Amino acid sequence: MTDPERTSVPEPIDLAALPKDFVWGVATSAYQIEGAVAEDGRSPSIWDTFSHTPGKVAGGDHGDVACDHYHRWPEDIALMKELGAGAYRLSLAWPRIVPGGDGPVNEAGLAFYDRLVDALLEAGITPNVTLYHWDLPQVLQDRGGWPARETAEHFAAYASAAAERLGDRVHQWATLNEPLCSAWIGHLEGRMAPGLTDIKAAVQASYHLLLGHGLAAQAIRAAAPGAAVGIVNNLSTIAPASDSEADVAAAQRADGHINRWWLDPVHGRGFPADMREVYGVDLPERAGDLETIAQPLDWLGLNYYFPAVVADDPEGPYPFARQVPRPGVPRTGMDWEIDAGGIEALLMRLTEEYGPRSIYITENGSSFPDVVRPDGSVHDPERIGYLEEHLAACARAVGRGAPLAGYYAWSLLDNFEWAYGYEKRFGLVHVDYETQKRTVKSSGRRYAEIIRSHREGGARAA
Ligand code: IFM
Repeated sequence: MTDPERTSVPEPIDLAALPKDFVWGVATSAYQIEGAVAEDGRSPSIWDTFSHTPGKVAGGDHGDVACDHYHRWPEDIALMKELGAGAYRLSLAWPRIVPGGDGPVNEAGLAFYDRLVDALLEAGITPNVTLYHWDLPQVLQDRGGWPARETAEHFAAYASAAAERLGDRVHQWATLNEPLCSAWIGHLEGRMAPGLTDIKAAVQASYHLLLGHGLAAQAIRAAAPGAAVGIVNNLSTIAPASDSEADVAAAQRADGHINRWWLDPVHGRGFPADMREVYGVDLPERAGDLETIAQPLDWLGLNYYFPAVVADDPEGPYPFARQVPRPGVPRTGMDWEIDAGGIEALLMRLTEEYGPRSIYITENGSSFPDVVRPDGSVHDPERIGYLEEHLAACARAVGRGAPLAGYYAWSLLDNFEWAYGYEKRFGLVHVDYETQKRTVKSSGRRYAEIIRSHREGGARAA
């Protein structure tokens, strides 16, 4: 039943265009929800360090408790069931599993994910596991972090330990989540851990992240033959702010920085030559690396949030392309432009230019300033509108031939939104951080309704 209180105009979603076995999921990541940062042998990650550094995160927030998922996971699985989710995209915390960064595996850390995976399967929810969602063990940062080649090798050893333990039950694995954020935002812009602003470190980190991806893909397959291995990128559509030569060239650079740098190497095309020139940094290449990076992929993960319109910015930071706001375009609470056409365009671009076996929308969602009403409910029509528009666009892309196999809403829960702390809420489920009370928002109910309607063979959800 459609929410009687909705205020947005429903966007028809052509559910019949989606495959019958389309995966309906929800997503989270370890540091954003788990809390329990000092329990059962977990060591600090670069995000513990960064968030406890004054001035780095809004409100001085950190992930010490977050959503307390480490203790409340049974309740959270029950919520997934309530929403009708058939799959859950989670990340493993490297510092829980290999607290020393390399070396001995921590049994208690693995046991946590063991319990979680078993309970998910028992609830009929398929786990989709990401190995790295930004929580590098601080000990490895102290030894050079991602700009150092050894980090990629340690990542593969951790991947192997995780896949050996969970690979009998977890089929779907992603190596990295949004390496763009780790490299560019963490090492060039300084807005994320480890908080550096150094182009050389950023380029080296990007190289070793992708090398780590390739090594980890090999390690997962060796430990869990038959595993379906992918990588998750956050991509944007890029358009020039004008048809001037300078803006068109800026759009080309922004596309290289945001999209091609991450897609081309894993598809065997090497690092884009134009961007190597823009960065002007020698890559720490060794013979055989490009082949390692280009492991065959079973699937591609696309995280989509917003498009980018850019203008030339010769004095600005790399890649010398400044994002230009478009007047009149609606925005989320993150001030991100809402443009569902972007998800369709990116699905088609991936399909046509890179020919993936299958694609998942591994994240898509929106933050708005939610209000808890006196009766305790949370009504979020803007988030419903965003969800519907983007699902409708996904269905259009499937109709045009995109091999889209599933959609994971970001996020199951409100959670620690990195440098924005807890102020920004992306959840389908509201979290009261004082009491840890969970409340399914109207958007969560709407998502459940769409899922049910697709499962029941409904042709359109409106
Ligand atoms: O919360 C993040 C997530 O960790 C990575 N992708 C984008 C989300 C919203 O900013």
